[in-house]
This record gives sequence, C-alpha cells and structure tokens, in this order.
Amino acid sequence: MYILGVESTCDESGIALIEAEKERVKVLANELRSQIKIHTPYGGVVPILAAREHKKNLPYLLKIIEKNFDLKKVDYLAFSVGPGLLPALVEGKEFVFNLAKKLNKKIIPVDHLYAHFASVLIKNKLNVWQKIRKINFPILVLVVSGGHTNLYLFESFTKFKKLGQTLDDAAGETLDKGARALNLGYPGGPIIEEKAKKAKNIYLLPKPLLEKGLNFSFSGLKTAFNELIKEIKEASGSLSEEEICNLSASLQKTIFEILIYKLNKAKQIYRPKEIIITGGVSANMTLRKMAKKFFRNIRVIFPERSLSTDNGLNIAIGGYLLLKEKSLALDPEKIEVYPRTV
Ligand code: KG4
Ligand code: ZN
Repeated sequence: MYILGVESTCDESGIALIEAEKERVKVLANELRSQIKIHTPYGGVVPILAAREHKKNLPYLLKIIEKNFDLKKVDYLAFSVGPGLLPALVEGKEFVFNLAKKLNKKIIPVDHLYAHFASVLIKNKLNVWQKIRKINFPILVLVVSGGHTNLYLFESFTKFKKLGQTLDDAAGETLDKGARALNLGYPGGPIIEEKAKKAKNIYLLPKPLLEKGLNFSFSGLKTAFNELIKEIKEASGSLSEEEICNLSASLQKTIFEILIYKLNKAKQIYRPKEIIITGGVSANMTLRKMAKKFFRNIRVIFPERSLSTDNGLNIAIGGYLLLKEKSLALDPEKIEVYPRTV
C-alpha cells in the first residue's frame, strides 16, 4: 500500500511517500522545506508565519512528488495532528483534508511525538525495500525536541504510557534560548553543538528537579545560564569566543546529564529491554556518545540523524504502524488537531 505523510507542526514543511507491506517499507519520496531563514530574525518560530509558509510549501512539495507518482494510487493520507503550533497544525489539516476529499481517501491522524518514536524504525533511503527495524519491548522512549521533553514506556507499538514530561521549557527550547542569549542564532541546538566542540572549561550549572520523579524542569537552568552570562560580561566587558564555547558546552552537558539521569532512574524502575532517544535534540552527537557510554549494558537506539528533526517520513511510517496495528484510519469529520501533548 502507499501512504503519504504530511508534517506541519512547527517550522518544517514535509511530505513523504512510502510503499509498505507487512514488515517492509520503501521510501519513494521525502521532501522537506525548512523555514529556518524566515524565523531566524525573530530568534524563534513565529506561529502565524509558520502557518503562512506551510500553506505555500505543502502544495509545492506535493507537486514535486506528483511528477513521479500518480497520487490516485495513494491509499492513505497520514498527517501530524498535534501537538504543535495551532495555526501550523490547522494549515496542515486543511491541506490534507482537501487532498483526501479530492482523492477520496481516508486519513490517519498521527501524533507528532509518536512519529518521533516511529522514526527509529527506518532509514532515510530512497527506493530500497527495507525491513522495519526490530525493537524489543518494553522499551523506554525519550522524545527530546524543541517543544517537548517526554518520557514514555512502550509495551508494544501501540500500547504505551507517559512516565514524565517537562513542567516548563523543553530541552531543545533551552538550547535555543541559550543560543539566543549568546547571540548565536536559531535553531540553537546545532550551533551550540558546534561551539561546544571548542570548549576548554565547563561551568557548573543547576539541575532542577533532578531527584524528584520522572518529570523534567529546565527553566531554572535557563535563568542560571542567563545570570552566568551577565556575570561574565560584567567581569570582562564582553563575551570572548572562548567563553561562548565554554558556556555552550556547559549548557549542553548539563541538559544531557539531566536527560540521562532521568532515563536511568526510569530504567531502574521499569527494567526496559532497550532505550530510544529521539526528536530534534537526538541529532546531537555529544548526547549520543554520552548516552551510549553511560548505558553500556542496554541498547540505546537513535534515529538516523536526518530523521531526528521533523519531516514527513516520520509521519508516514508512524501512520503505517498505527494502521497495521490498530487499523486506525478515519473519516475527516472525526479528526481534530490539538496543540498540546495528550
Ligand atoms: O523535533 P524537532 O525538529 O521539532 C520539534 O518537534 O520541536 O526539534 C527541534 C529542536 C530544536 O530545539 C533544535 O535546536 C534541536 O531540536 N536540535 C538540536 C540539534 N539539531 C536540532 N539540538 C541539539 N543538537 C543538535 N544537533
Ligand atoms: Zn518534532
């Protein structure tokens, strides 16, 4: 069967097309248009601009796919139903609903965080049949992105419960805001990763909520980081490149230590067979190395780096899993987008 996946929760417009049967998937297209340039002057994503861009980008991406594929052959349309920026979600929904009507197809609503989970199961490789990666349940899943820091226990592909989440800022958001405070641009995560490579010293920063349960909190860390920047600026007049690198490494290291600490806590309680770390922040090589080094006796799985951040392929594969395991495809009138995590 053929599934089209549409992503529009935030600042990436993405459409992918997969062919799938049983345990095998072939990626036929994975088109992405990033809006980074549009949002950079604002230091973060502006929801209404994101929606405007999706409106422009999604038809454009579909046209590219249509050049090589007759859309009438598509069986289902999967789209990111939430959580995300409401105007952006609504734009994606409009686009998919119109297409579903035109092609007379059913829709698979896919939770954006579920799609981040699904991203570890495939490779971003065009036109090659690949087996869906085998994973062993129960499995701990940490989704770390710009909007979310959620920890789940998955008992199967469709049975899972949330163990914890951030009570304030998300991990990626903290990196983005940290980068903004250092005047480094947007999105912050990859820039901070680069700067951190040249660090010579590490500052000690607080780890709020560390010992309390499985929820996360990063806003206290953000405040402490901003204070530290102020102190250094007051003492030396400005921030040297060396200081920027040191600060970047300190922020990144502190966040990753918190993530690993909480994962380990959950591991001790729930005894999972494997651990998945996914979402935009999981693209970070330092996080990957730290987690693999820490969890020596258990497999830690990451998505292919190109699938860590948002894209249509994650949605398509998430949609296929939901359909395969739960026969979850709906008529449009039963679907509502949602901005917050459920
Ligand atoms: O999953 P994603 O594309 O969007 C959301 O669902 O939020 O994640 C975007 C986040 C941003 O905060 C960005 O700074 C972060 O992922 N990110 C990274 C890296 N690449 C993207 N953070 C750390 N290191 C990276 N290499
Ligand atoms: Zn995401």
